[in-house]
Amino acid sequence: GAAVEVDISSLKPGEKTTVEWRGKPVWIVRRTPEQLESLKATDAQLADPKSDRTAYPTPEYAKNQWRSIKPEIFVAVGICSHLGCSPSDKFQTGPQPSLPDDWHGGFLCPCHGSTFDMAGRVFKNKPAPDNLEVPPHMYLSDSKLLIG
Ligand code: FES
Repeated sequence: GAAVEVDISSLKPGEKTTVEWRGKPVWIVRRTPEQLESLKATDAQLADPKSDRTAYPTPEYAKNQWRSIKPEIFVAVGICSHLGCSPSDKFQTGPQPSLPDDWHGGFLCPCHGSTFDMAGRVFKNKPAPDNLEVPPHMYLSDSKLLIG
């Protein structure tokens, strides 16, 4: 079938790996405790904190603050919901020109500057209308993910 199996046992905290699923890049990030903590602070600054508005329905098991099954593992389609560019990693961020200085980092779209948090949620109503898509996925074991 179209499902993709991924072994995440070697993915360290703060690291991201990308696999292809149905022609789309799917990111798998093992978030650090600090990155998880940053997700609590930002609800009021998010366009859609509960992922209600997304054009790509967020699976029920990811309709939480982390947008994931296990808090530390984030799985998302790496395509900006604005016009389809690929956001880049900005896992560490300090004040930078043109970036919100209260943004704790996540993903930055190079095309029109949309900022996403570490759960792929749109930060500060930047042009992207929707949070990053969370593809259907499940765990086959502690270290094996099935995407699709
Ligand atoms: Fe990402 Fe426009 S395509 S902000």
